[in-house]
Amino acid sequence: MSCTVFLLFLLSSSFFVSTEAYDALDPNGNITIKWDIMSWTPDGYVAVVTLYNFQQYRHIDSPGWQLGWTWTKKEVIWSMMGGQATDQGDCSKFKGSIPHCCKKNPTIVDLLPGTPYNQQIANCCKGGVLTSWAQDPANAVGSFQISVGRSGTTNKTVRAPKNVTLKAPGPGYTCGRASIVKPTRFITSDKRRVTQALMTWNITCTYSQFLASKTPTCCVSLSSFYNDTIVPCPTCSCGCRSNTTGGCVKGNSPHIASVVPGSNRDIVTPVVQCTSHMCPIRVHWHVKLNYKEYWRVKVTITNFNYAMNYSNWNLVVQHPNFDNLTQIFSFNYKSLTPYGDINDTALLWGLKFYNDFLMQAGPLGNVQSELLFQKDLSTFSFEKGWAFPQRIYFNGDICVMPPPDAYPMLPNAGSRQYISLLTLFVTSLSTMAFLYVNA
Ligand SMILES: *[C@@H]1O[C@H](CO)[C@@H](O)[C@H](O)[C@H]1NC(C)=O
Ligand SMILES: *[C@@H]1O[C@H](CO)[C@@H](O)[C@H](O)[C@H]1NC(C)=O
Ligand SMILES: *[C@@H]1O[C@H](CO)[C@@H](O)[C@H](O)[C@H]1NC(C)=O
Ligand SMILES: *[C@@H]1O[C@H](CO)[C@@H](O)[C@H](O)[C@H]1NC(C)=O
Ligand SMILES: *[C@@H]1O[C@H](CO)[C@@H](O)[C@H](O)[C@H]1NC(C)=O
Ligand SMILES: *[C@@H]1O[C@H](CO)[C@@H](O)[C@H](O)[C@H]1NC(C)=O
Ligand SMILES: *[C@@H]1O[C@H](CO)[C@@H](O)[C@H](O)[C@H]1NC(C)=O
Ligand SMILES: *[C@@H]1O[C@H](CO)[C@@H](O)[C@H](O)[C@H]1NC(C)=O
Ligand SMILES: *[C@@H]1O[C@H](CO)[C@@H](O)[C@H](O)[C@H]1NC(C)=O
Repeated sequence: MSCTVFLLFLLSSSFFVSTEAYDALDPNGNITIKWDIMSWTPDGYVAVVTLYNFQQYRHIDSPGWQLGWTWTKKEVIWSMMGGQATDQGDCSKFKGSIPHCCKKNPTIVDLLPGTPYNQQIANCCKGGVLTSWAQDPANAVGSFQISVGRSGTTNKTVRAPKNVTLKAPGPGYTCGRASIVKPTRFITSDKRRVTQALMTWNITCTYSQFLASKTPTCCVSLSSFYNDTIVPCPTCSCGCRSNTTGGCVKGNSPHIASVVPGSNRDIVTPVVQCTSHMCPIRVHWHVKLNYKEYWRVKVTITNFNYAMNYSNWNLVVQHPNFDNLTQIFSFNYKSLTPYGDINDTALLWGLKFYNDFLMQAGPLGNVQSELLFQKDLSTFSFEKGWAFPQRIYFNGDICVMPPPDAYPMLPNAGSRQYISLLTLFVTSLSTMAFLYVNA
């Protein structure tokens, strides 16, 4: 029975995710790559390539972005500033000066902080880390300069790169074609002169959680002062692993010390502690206190991943009472308004040098905060799970919630028969997914 429930749950969640390259809480979220040709050279051009992370809450963390493309002609990269190609390729045909990269499909990475000034340009050298737009727009932008040879040398003969790929550093992003847009205008710092690019291409990349990871990476558990039940994360929220064949690490086991974080720069495979949910991250929402005009919630984020310290973590929480958040302790808060004036979605993140670093699994692997909400007496209720969040994302990926009918209930609420719209919705989705798979 519980197995079937779990299956339905997994099906319904993957059903959700796979259809959702579109993110309801960040409908315009994208990374835009702008390719500004600044000057023509005898055999090509010099361009500044800029990545804008326009996503409200999804960031690119260390070890950073990797940008790839395929050249249309026989282009080479003579030199670069603020970035580098990971692989030079075969430049054996060249005599005299040797290009920086001769590959048909180069991969570019950012340089590291502390790069000598003569190799830097503005917005470079952040180790490929881009913050989210809502948290820190100034650091959501990254640039490098590229000097291209053996390409066209006029705006009629030059060709845009094809098949652009963005890794962050794993999969998840899909990039469209380059399109010619109005040349970018640059205003000098004294604001007394405007210059413009000779030609500009834009490329838009969008994220899909399904492409990034087929299984969820985070789950939610719930509790309240009015009911002793702690509703755990659904079993195997993040996929089942065998706890006997090394699929997970037992807490307090001596093996922990010898766990080597993934050496592959592309994908850091989680090394999770053995739990019933098997998620690298659990978010716990505890309804802590009830005052006459206010109520208080405690949020705890726990890291079960031995292979990962999450720097600059963030959390997106959707709850109708965020329109009246009165105080938040020890986290930063910003209201997100994905659909105009409904103020029910919050972006939360850690305070710098205090709890913005969520340490790997172990005694220090958690961060907490408390939220104080003012009640709007016409909508406030402890019934029907109203006090619990509707949706939670950790680092931009949606977290698996317990099924609504398992939420802690008020004693004697007698609301067992109550079927919320949400239950109906989830049930019908699961049924659809189930029928679909059986067909
Ligand atoms: C990318 O994001 C920006 C900022 O939100 C938005 O103005 C633009 O329309 C988006 N582009 C696409 C193609 O969605
Ligand atoms: C190319 O340059 C010419 C002027 O040299 C200009 O009229 C034309 O609009 C440019 N085309 C593009 C696509 O930028
Ligand atoms: C695009 O790039 C991917 C990965 O580098 C490659 O597998 C694919 O064949 C390329 N497609 C084209 C049309 O070049
Ligand atoms: C191209 O990208 C830049 C930077 O993201 C943006 O300001 C500009 O509006 C974009 N142009 C178009 C036509 O999308
Ligand atoms: C792992 O093994 C133990 C003992 O064999 C068992 O009690 C537990 O339910 C198993 N699963 C998880 C996820 O810990
Ligand atoms: C996480 O940070 C701690 C303290 O800085 C460090 O000892 C540990 O090796 C880091 N773990 C990983 C997986 O990077
Ligand atoms: C949403 O709520 C926050 C905090 O209560 C407030 O600062 C913000 O202005 C509100 N935004 C809207 C659109 O109502
Ligand atoms: C916040 O709560 C107070 C008291 O109930 C109410 O007057 C006010 O309209 C609420 N604010 C919002 C944005 O709903
Ligand atoms: C607490 O909530 C659980 C789950 O909804 C419910 O089964 C239980 O009856 C509740 N406990 C009390 C004392 O009402």
